[in-house]
Amino acid sequence: MQQHATPKLTQAQNDARLLLHKIAGSAVGLDLEMPIATGEMRRRIYLDSTASTLRLGVVQDVLDRYQPYYANTHSTVHFGARLSTEEYRWAHDMVLDFVNADRTNYTAFFVGSGATGGMNRVAATLARRMPERDVVITSIMEHHSNDLPHRKHFKTVVHAPPENGSTSMGCVCIKAIERALEAHKGRVAYVSVTGVSNVTGIINPVHEIAALAHAHGALMVVDAAQMVAHVPIRMNGNADPAEDIDVVVFSGHKIYAPGSPGVVVARRELFQGLEPVEVGGGMVDDVWLDRYTPTAALPDREEAGTPNITGAIGLGAALYALHKIGMDVVEEDEAALMRLALQRLCALPGIALYGDCDMERYPRAGAISFNVRGMHHALTAAILNDYYNIAVRNQCFCAHPYVREMVTEALAAADEALTAAELEALAEMQRGMVRASFGIYTTEADIDTLAKALEDISGNRDRYEALYTQLPNGDFQHKTFSFEPRQFFSVRDSVDGWLERA
Ligand SMILES: Cc1ncc(COP(=O)(O)O)c(C=O)c1O
Repeated sequence: MQQHATPKLTQAQNDARLLLHKIAGSAVGLDLEMPIATGEMRRRIYLDSTASTLRLGVVQDVLDRYQPYYANTHSTVHFGARLSTEEYRWAHDMVLDFVNADRTNYTAFFVGSGATGGMNRVAATLARRMPERDVVITSIMEHHSNDLPHRKHFKTVVHAPPENGSTSMGCVCIKAIERALEAHKGRVAYVSVTGVSNVTGIINPVHEIAALAHAHGALMVVDAAQMVAHVPIRMNGNADPAEDIDVVVFSGHKIYAPGSPGVVVARRELFQGLEPVEVGGGMVDDVWLDRYTPTAALPDREEAGTPNITGAIGLGAALYALHKIGMDVVEEDEAALMRLALQRLCALPGIALYGDCDMERYPRAGAISFNVRGMHHALTAAILNDYYNIAVRNQCFCAHPYVREMVTEALAAADEALTAAELEALAEMQRGMVRASFGIYTTEADIDTLAKALEDISGNRDRYEALYTQLPNGDFQHKTFSFEPRQFFSVRDSVDGWLERA
């Protein structure tokens, strides 16, 4: 296995790190090889974990073992039903333990479509719980999933800006949040910010913000879609209880269990006594033709219908494995890798990095975004794939306002003579970035390959540009090299193959 960065840790943490590397090295798809534009075969370097992480080998193993016993939950009569019901329940407990939420005061429930489903449920519920409070404070750093649900259910959504760092934008501006809380005194239902940005990886001080929100009678919601896989979460039990978090939302596919559901962890009282947003089987005590009584029991009350049982069990396995290692170890390990990535990319004059790069002032985790100066983000991403088999993502990462602000900031810094109108037009034209994102399986060698690839691309811009044509959808197509996903996998071919072999 390749070496990770090694900061100073205690013996126990080193043992935990060994376990971490063992688990990380088992990720499914880590050793994939594909033919690239030079004609060679290359191992894929997966730098797209912010979108979705790879599935851990331990998760795959647990699911393979579980699958023969699969049965629907909500019954304990036959073997499979009881086993499924108990393990599905255990997955909820595992979620609570993982985010340090005590089981008496908090509930965890699964929702259909990732963190987005979770945040929609939270906004719809809290808007009805606090009808007298019609304002939500969020930030411009947010993924649309932590913005649009609030816009849909509340009258006013305030977007706090990030702080001005020394070179670029930093974490969300706490003073701006405080000003908004003051300006809308008594009307703010909750503050909802991302724990970790999905664009820059900048970590927000969620506990400090929680204390502020609570001092103003508002709740604290954290979009932990990115935070969950990189930074320990402590919902309650903080030294100052005002720093506790009321609601956390995340997605299982971003913490090494693709195929698993979205998750909401919340103080129980927030979801009790209100008509649930979704109704159907599994969440009622009794139904008559003219009425029904939703169960008071959580999480059942919030989980109408047959849940994604297999996905939840896979997620439980991933969380349990990481919990045994300790998220503090994961955080340390990844912080060293992030420092290395920033240092290597900052040293490349042809690369523009977004967000303040001073990790002492603005810690980061998981993702960095950049552009090769003078090159379209989609072309950079295509070259990284076609010539290096490095999988990255480009465009705006469902965070249009944040990306727009940062691209504008970079353009203004590069040419101070631009008028506001020219700047706006240019930013609209050039809006987009390349994002490299990391998981526990990302190594120093991966970062080294990325840095060398970017040095090559920025040093040979003209040569690379001549090899590609831009398609009407904005992507770039190599003139002589192409690949078809069906070369590697298709459901139909797999089924045909299975049927022939059967
Ligand atoms: C910070 C953040 N919040 C919310 C989401 C939405 O997650 P999902 O697509 O699982 O619903 C994402 C997805 O990338 C994200 O990065």
